[in-house]
Amino acid sequence: MKVTVVGAGAVGASCAEYIAIKNFAEEIVLVDIKEGFAEGKAMDLMQTASLNGFDSTIVGATNDYSKTANSDVAVITSGIPRKPGMTREELIGINAGIVKDVATKLIAESPNVIIIVVSNPMDTMAYLAHKATGLPKNRIIGMGGALDSARFKYRLAEALECPQSDVDAMVIGGHSDTGMVPLIEKAVRNSVPVTAFLSEEVQAEVVEATKVGGATLTKLLGTSAWYAPGAAVSELVRAIALDSKKMFPCSALLEGEYGLNDISLGVPCVIGKNGIEKIVEIELSETEKAKLADSAEGVAAVNALL
Ligand code: NAI
Repeated sequence: MKVTVVGAGAVGASCAEYIAIKNFAEEIVLVDIKEGFAEGKAMDLMQTASLNGFDSTIVGATNDYSKTANSDVAVITSGIPRKPGMTREELIGINAGIVKDVATKLIAESPNVIIIVVSNPMDTMAYLAHKATGLPKNRIIGMGGALDSARFKYRLAEALECPQSDVDAMVIGGHSDTGMVPLIEKAVRNSVPVTAFLSEEVQAEVVEATKVGGATLTKLLGTSAWYAPGAAVSELVRAIALDSKKMFPCSALLEGEYGLNDISLGVPCVIGKNGIEKIVEIELSETEKAKLADSAEGVAAVNALL
């Protein structure tokens, strides 16, 4: 498998590193607009191959898309991240132009590529990538829910005082502080609903901490996070590479699913060699349905700014 990662910044480099360490890709191409930056990151990462025990080849390119030719998967992380106090939506003006331009260049070199959109505001950027490229809906995946669900599991395990591997939980809806819908009623600890262990007050605290998970890190770091975002992307790429049919919440173009149309929003998706192989419609409670509808309204309002 050949994977291109556009944007060799914090998230792009972290994602390339995890893909390399997981050792399922033959070639990883890092592309950045900053002269020499992607080449430098690629060289630094390649010098970890004997230390980390991987065989992937990592190459860098400054704005040269010919090196990305015949990629199976391309990850778009190019753009600006938010600073403390900023919302993801405030990035739209700059990032929309970048995402559109990059998606078009990627397809010109790799007509069969599956695109994973990471740049924020992610749901709107994934929607824009659909509109700009006209690719079939299975081939554009917005990454947000995989990260938000990992953050939800972290918060749940902390509250439950148990290992994260004992917890299963999912966040659907938009990838924004107000749009995320952590499905607390469906979260389980070893098949037992977490609602059996946690008071309503603690449940509410966990949900809130999950929704502001990115903002909390942005405040601490002075910029947005990269390890968990990179790891989440690498898991989506691995599911495609291994055709594993693993389910992740991803921002998918909805055409009637969940009663929604003409919007990219986080819903459970089966990921395999064709990208989004199935959008899974799970039964939602009335409360969950209302939250998802509100979330869709919020994302649609951001889409209207395009
Ligand atoms: P960063 O600033 O560290 O890296 C971005 C890189 O993109 C820079 O190296 C920059 O030179 C490059 N770039 C800018 N324009 C480009 C172009 N036209 N072509 C190629 N490269 C270009 O930012 P970071 O932290 O890596 O974040 C990247 C994006 O990912 C941001 O929009 C951020 O908000 C988003 N993000 C999304 C997450 C998600 O869950 N969907 C999680 C974390 C970040």
